[in-house]
Amino acid sequence: MVRISEEKLKELIKNKIHKAGLTEEHAAGVADVLAHADMRGYHSHGAMRVEYYAERIAKGGITHNPKFEFKKTGPASGIFEGDNGVGHVAAIKGMEEAIKLAKESGIAVVGMKHISHSGALSYFVDQAAREDLIGISMCQSDPMVVPYGGAEPYYGTNPIAFAAPGKDGQIVTFDMATTVQAWGKILHARSKKESIPEGWAVDENGAPATDPFAVKALLPIAGPKGYGLMLMVDVLSGILLGLPYGKHVSSMYADLTKGRDLGQLHIVIDPAKFTDIESFKEHLSASMQELNDSKPAEGYDMVNWPGQRSAAREEKNRENGVEIVDDVYNYLVSDVVHNNKYDHKDPFAE
Ligand code: NAI
Repeated sequence: MVRISEEKLKELIKNKIHKAGLTEEHAAGVADVLAHADMRGYHSHGAMRVEYYAERIAKGGITHNPKFEFKKTGPASGIFEGDNGVGHVAAIKGMEEAIKLAKESGIAVVGMKHISHSGALSYFVDQAAREDLIGISMCQSDPMVVPYGGAEPYYGTNPIAFAAPGKDGQIVTFDMATTVQAWGKILHARSKKESIPEGWAVDENGAPATDPFAVKALLPIAGPKGYGLMLMVDVLSGILLGLPYGKHVSSMYADLTKGRDLGQLHIVIDPAKFTDIESFKEHLSASMQELNDSKPAEGYDMVNWPGQRSAAREEKNRENGVEIVDDVYNYLVSDVVHNNKYDHKDPFAE
């Protein structure tokens, strides 16, 4: 492990992404979102993704200088055309438009069309919360999850995120994939040659898999309920935007020379149009405090609110620097742009 400052991490990511072909501005946007994930402890969506993005950028599967265009389609709605440019920056800019619209109209719904992977969604909903607004975001991802009762992947890990402002700058952020476990956890079990608990994933027949090497799909959270949430995300960030949906959503590694045509939807609500903003913030913080003060179950120290532990990790990492695994660090400081590792990779291999 190497411990480095947030600034250093951003600089290393930015340099690599710029070297792969993106403009400095776009490379800086990617660096911001990836460093945010590492700082909050979501390393699966942090610097470890740079090599994959660099390969895709170098091979033309992310437009180097995209024609981003925002079109207002109604008093509170709009489409952000991403031109298969980098998803992180399209989602940041789409959220900026949604924030402007919500301040005028009380609510805004903005769809990002034809974008690439955008990383940890908490980054975008936090943009809204910092402006005293409520942010919601969701996006499609590549098909790796069986529908409830199914034996073959149909949906992606389709994440949903929510953030709202409390008092004194507090931000409550909830951000989750709609699968029981991320693919990274299966890879981790494979690397340690350990079995996985029943309920995480299934084999090629849709039967519960405990051998991580037999996994052919992930499972939705809470059976049919998580499956329903995935479906909702697919409708709102895919079908609604006229994009490929369900199993037609492009795979992360299928062809790195082609744009991914993904979709993402931001919803922003201005609490001031519904209640007094200061009392909203007071009540939200009071409610989070009540959760912290409530009786913990056996085996738990306390009840945390969603995002509380990530926020604490971020604060600590800002003071002490953030730990990055050696392989990722060594790649970031090397002269190599990418290693031809990901093109046409089987998502269930390795
Ligand atoms: P997770 O399972 O670690 O956490 C989910 C939520 O539960 C978080 O809001 C977290 O704060 C909360 N939580 C966890 N432990 C808690 C505790 N003890 N008490 C209270 N709350 C707690 O997150 P997951 O599902 O693994 O997602 C990780 C990241 O991956 C997210 O940032 C997500 O946006 C991203 N992602 C992005 C995708 C994309 O295609 N762009 C696809 C899938 C995930």
